[in-house]
Amino acid sequence: MKTRVQFWLAAAAVLTSAAIPPTVLHARAPTHEDGAADGRARAALARMSLTDKIALINGEMPLMLPKAQRPEDLAIGAGYVPGNEALGVPPQVSTDASLGVSNLMDMRKGDVATALPSGLALAATWNPDLLYQGGRMIGSEARAKGFNVMLAGGVNLVRDPRAGRNFEYLGEDPLLAGRLVGREIAGIQSNRMIATIKHFALNDQETGRSSGNVVIDEAAARESDLLAFQIGIEEGDPGSVMCAYNLIGGKFACENEFLLNQVLRRDWRFKGFVMSDWGAVHSTESLLAGLDQQSAQKLDRKRWFSTELEAALKNGRVPMRAVDTAVLRILRTLYARDLDGLPPAKTPIDYAANGKVAQAVAEQGTVLLRNEGGILPIASAVRRIVVIGGHADIGVLSGAGSSQVVPVGGFKLVEPITEGPARMFGRRAFGGTPPLEALRAALPGREITYVDGRDPTVAVEAARQADAAIVFGEKFQGEAFDSPNLALDGKGDALIAAVAAANPRTIAVLEIGNPVLMPWRDRVAAILVGWYPGQRGGDALAAIIAGTVNPSGRLPATFPAGIEQLPNPVLPGSNLPPPSKDDRAIYGINTNSPPFEIHYPEGSDAGYRWYDRKRFTPLYPFGYGLNYTRFGYDRLVVTGGNQLEARFRVTNTGARDGTDVAQIYITLPGKARRLAGWSRVALKPGESRTITIAVDPRILANFDAARQRWVVSPGEVRVELSRAATMPVIAAKVRISGRQLRP
Ligand code: BGC
Repeated sequence: MKTRVQFWLAAAAVLTSAAIPPTVLHARAPTHEDGAADGRARAALARMSLTDKIALINGEMPLMLPKAQRPEDLAIGAGYVPGNEALGVPPQVSTDASLGVSNLMDMRKGDVATALPSGLALAATWNPDLLYQGGRMIGSEARAKGFNVMLAGGVNLVRDPRAGRNFEYLGEDPLLAGRLVGREIAGIQSNRMIATIKHFALNDQETGRSSGNVVIDEAAARESDLLAFQIGIEEGDPGSVMCAYNLIGGKFACENEFLLNQVLRRDWRFKGFVMSDWGAVHSTESLLAGLDQQSAQKLDRKRWFSTELEAALKNGRVPMRAVDTAVLRILRTLYARDLDGLPPAKTPIDYAANGKVAQAVAEQGTVLLRNEGGILPIASAVRRIVVIGGHADIGVLSGAGSSQVVPVGGFKLVEPITEGPARMFGRRAFGGTPPLEALRAALPGREITYVDGRDPTVAVEAARQADAAIVFGEKFQGEAFDSPNLALDGKGDALIAAVAAANPRTIAVLEIGNPVLMPWRDRVAAILVGWYPGQRGGDALAAIIAGTVNPSGRLPATFPAGIEQLPNPVLPGSNLPPPSKDDRAIYGINTNSPPFEIHYPEGSDAGYRWYDRKRFTPLYPFGYGLNYTRFGYDRLVVTGGNQLEARFRVTNTGARDGTDVAQIYITLPGKARRLAGWSRVALKPGESRTITIAVDPRILANFDAARQRWVVSPGEVRVELSRAATMPVIAAKVRISGRQLRP
């Protein structure tokens, strides 16, 4: 990472060089409803005292406020910035997060919300329209509960399958994750809300989440994690960006001039405001580096944006114009999003309708990885079925942390975590439709029994006596902790292996927050990955097993064959001493621990690109997923030049209705494959559709940090029409023209 001075020098060189070729393009710049909002913001600012301004650039967790400072009807969520009626400034009332309106530690006693499946399930749909619907739905619930800011969506890339928050995010590919988060944000904001893309940036693991210093060169960052944010911001136009806990190039993300002032504002022309993650501020000077709001003053070690700021203004360390800039950005966003036109208020919610959105995501996001002999959908000859483990009689598992939604109906089982960093958010909680109940409803007339799997001999005996066994395996993950391995929880792997040995018709169903190793893979007949399937996940899994829904999910992250295939076989920081007993440290914030370095040997080649580069064969590749029908591909026509386009035909050659996800990958000379586009297409048996995919030039480019440009080199590109990253069906070569794009 360059120093600040080096960056300014590089930027100055670009600005003074007259030789920008005529082919320079700019990626679509985000637009708010500008003029009017700017004018209103300026007028409000002109009437503000310093106290008014400070009030706007500071937030607090409502539960940390004395009761007297909380309006009676205030929705209790993650944050609160009081409004100012006299000045026409609406309050900002925020809630987490990307999977629904969360209710961390039951802060709104007994409140529930529609729980979407996890981010990886959302991503496994590869369906931008569904992400929009999901966003629209959770945004409408947030609105109806009295919030107007949503701390969603999360788009950190999956770089390591042990990382605790991967379940909240949208996979390992910047194009897929960026497009999907953009649609989710647009959906949320269709409710006149502010959405918050997070955690900016490179906050890709929980271990030492506020002392890990990511050391990565600029080109690698721009082509990977930053590209996901860039695309997400272009497509979704979020009102705010949340800067992350970690350090990048030796600077905390929330005081990182390069990230905030240069990349986000100068290059991407972001017009909204930057809020900190909760407890991620370390200085008053963050204001100068581009941070606009200290979200949760009491979680930070000092009141950087109030008491400390007043002192800094007095002694001239921070000029008033920096405060005004932050205030203006916040105000104009509130007005551009029309937040004052619709103050937060509580209204009824149609949970039955919203549950259908959650179910659609679970149906489209469940991935069928194996189906030997077409065991699924389950044949009518299979009369006696035993369901084993996973608390399938109670509900489905969810991931822990600030994103955890208490589903409609409430949690039915909560296993508290009392040890280690997991304990801060430690709720291993089950809720939603119990899969057992859903299976009984979907398969009437079958004898479906349940054993809890705690005693493997009982499970094995039950499996032996049944026509088929459906065995559940779980892996619990959450915020503030990573997993030490890629195994299922407890004795899950051994249980599945034992059941498979007792019954050849064993179907493994996984409720997991991350890829796992599945040492029993070749011994089971079928594998369904439900991720954390959300409150209607039980219904979705049952519909897929019964065959009323044809699975169409595709992996948004590579499943490795072993830890040794990971870019960092030892997770950075995992060998350091555990954090002190300080509560902040347990929460993973503001630890005061000395920074340690996080290196990414894969550079911009996160996920499947790394496997391609290393010629590793994963357990299951990115993009992989089976279907109950078959799809044929033909007539691939690729045009090059200035705009690479791939046209091809998809035909349902099987006997059932189904949905395919056809994928286009490109390979530049000497580089790893990159996903360049995809299309989800629903077809009846015998039906065909011709699809055209136009490739974003940044996928064909490499970032040139010295020139501060995306550079597409002229030459030949290999284009593949594929079923998954490693499964090309037809390939072609095409010449593309050289061009450069502004960052
Ligand atoms: C998380 C954020 C979240 C915030 C507020 C932090 O711990 O990192 O994602 O939005 O808390 O709850």
